[in-house]
Amino acid sequence: HYQKNIRNFSIIAHIDHGKSTLADRILEKTGCVAKRDMKEQFLDNMDLERERGITIKLQTSRLLYKAKDGQEYIFNLIDTPGHVDFTYEVSRSLAACEGAVLVVDATQGVEAQTLANVYLALDEDLEILPCLNKIDLPSSRPDEVKQEIEDVIGIDASEAPLVSAKEGTGVEDLLEKIVEVVPAPSGNPEGKLKALIFDSYYDNYKGVVIYARIFDGIVKAGDTIRLMNTGKKYEVTEVGTYSPGPVPCNELKAGEVGYICASIKQVRDARVGDTVTLDNDPADAPLPGYKKAQSMVYCGIYPAEGEKYENVKDALEKLQVNDAAFNFEPETSQALGFGFRCGFLGLLHMEIIVERLEREFDLGVITTSPSVIYKVIKNDGTEMMVQNPSNLPEPTLVKQIEEPIVKADIMIPKEYVGNIMELCQERRGKMIHMEYITENRVQLHYEMPLNEVIYDFFDALKSKTRGYGSLDYEFIRYEPSKLVKMDILLNKELVDAFSMIVHESKAQARGKFVCEKLKEVIPMHQFEVPIQAAIGQKVIARTTVRAYRKDVIAKCYGGDISRKKKLLEKQKEGKKRMRQFGKVEVPQEAFTAVLKYD
Ligand code: GTP
Repeated sequence: HYQKNIRNFSIIAHIDHGKSTLADRILEKTGCVAKRDMKEQFLDNMDLERERGITIKLQTSRLLYKAKDGQEYIFNLIDTPGHVDFTYEVSRSLAACEGAVLVVDATQGVEAQTLANVYLALDEDLEILPCLNKIDLPSSRPDEVKQEIEDVIGIDASEAPLVSAKEGTGVEDLLEKIVEVVPAPSGNPEGKLKALIFDSYYDNYKGVVIYARIFDGIVKAGDTIRLMNTGKKYEVTEVGTYSPGPVPCNELKAGEVGYICASIKQVRDARVGDTVTLDNDPADAPLPGYKKAQSMVYCGIYPAEGEKYENVKDALEKLQVNDAAFNFEPETSQALGFGFRCGFLGLLHMEIIVERLEREFDLGVITTSPSVIYKVIKNDGTEMMVQNPSNLPEPTLVKQIEEPIVKADIMIPKEYVGNIMELCQERRGKMIHMEYITENRVQLHYEMPLNEVIYDFFDALKSKTRGYGSLDYEFIRYEPSKLVKMDILLNKELVDAFSMIVHESKAQARGKFVCEKLKEVIPMHQFEVPIQAAIGQKVIARTTVRAYRKDVIAKCYGGDISRKKKLLEKQKEGKKRMRQFGKVEVPQEAFTAVLKYD
């Protein structure tokens, strides 16, 4: 039977434990081009992820492996995104597999995301195959880490292959283990079509290309498919597999993994997690686990130069076509004019979109303070979801505000426990419990407002643990909280783009911090510029940018003509990046400067 020689699996790992390097090696050993070469060819526009050294999306590949038993196996290596913002996408990729190779860096041991990924894999009933990586390094301690895997995760690691993805040692071993340990798929090709969408991307010629795992039935060109959760119908134009470039084929059948093209216009129409079935002979029920895209973090994005509004809109539309989790709608700000309110999975996702606007579309933008979604219950009993601080109703109309709470799992070496507990306390975290994973490593479980996590909590964690701390978090519930809207006034005028929702107990400190930061970045004017933080009518913090002294201005008028010209040009250049609020000029960097805690 054709399915007995198929192995569908993912590689899961904590960031930097060597997932991509191992995937490269596996591609090489199975005779495929080196993945990095292929990336250069096909994925040029994703240089962002290479620079940041994290995998946002890689490519799924079909590989052929001649095993020691003399048989040839088809390996479908399904890639998973490598960041906490994309947990749902990871879970759907895993749902397409029967097994997962768990890579653990033998110099580091089990980390927060190792565990988070293992739990996701266990939720999908996957067979987990542990392997230890980086054994070429003198500081590796495979035996200890094996023990750690057994103690912490509770799976047998005694036969885990010892691998150096860098040098290629142990990879053969691992491939044999995959054949042995990962179960073959067992779908029914005669059944009604059920295929899981686990990824998709937009291609200029083919439209949306769906990556799918076929569980039952057969799909081929000419079929009319229905996406069961959205109810939409399309005609299939092409099916095929990646090895690793696209290779069209006649049909995809139960147990196989491949791509489906059906002239779909936007990736959001082929949402990850949706089930593909045949329109004239549909399955009874979709595959479980489908979730609508849910943005967790919002911010305003405004063109740095007002006349670029249409360009920014075009660029956002292009980005959205390829990113189901990103959404936007027009909004206006008194301070910034016409722009867009944008929703993201998390802060990293937001940073990626903003950077792509700047790099790929050459557009300068201003982003307003990121905000989570608050649930506001008004005195008249009505409920509203607020994702823009400016839309918070008058305090007198509000009965209660609720904020999203996340469960945060933090892993750190024990010497940092004190520091990190202090940090979590500052961020209004509630400790649920703490456990020693090994003699030296501690796991802390906290419940924390998402609002506190999005303001560079991860950076703070990293810097307080010299890079050794790791974090994983997920939304758990809404909870009533004493939240207030804090406004910033420049020269007595409210600048709505700076408004933020903060906890009452934090307002004072935060207000002071923002005032100080603004004072650092707002240039001197010919008059004094008071900067104030206020809650309603009440000023809670203030500073002042002093006016120019006369002799400073005088200096500007000295010197020869060409130097003066250069100075003027430089000023003009600077002007473009300045925003005028009333009489006050604010540089673009002010908007990012206020986001960081110190
Ligand atoms: P993300 O893409 O962020 O999830 O990281 P990753 O898990 O894919 O890690 P990646 O493969 O990019 O490897 C991280 C770093 O570890 C890189 O600098 C690799 O060169 C290095 N590395 C990976 N495998 C080995 C190994 O076996 N030995 C040594 N010495 N270094 C390795």
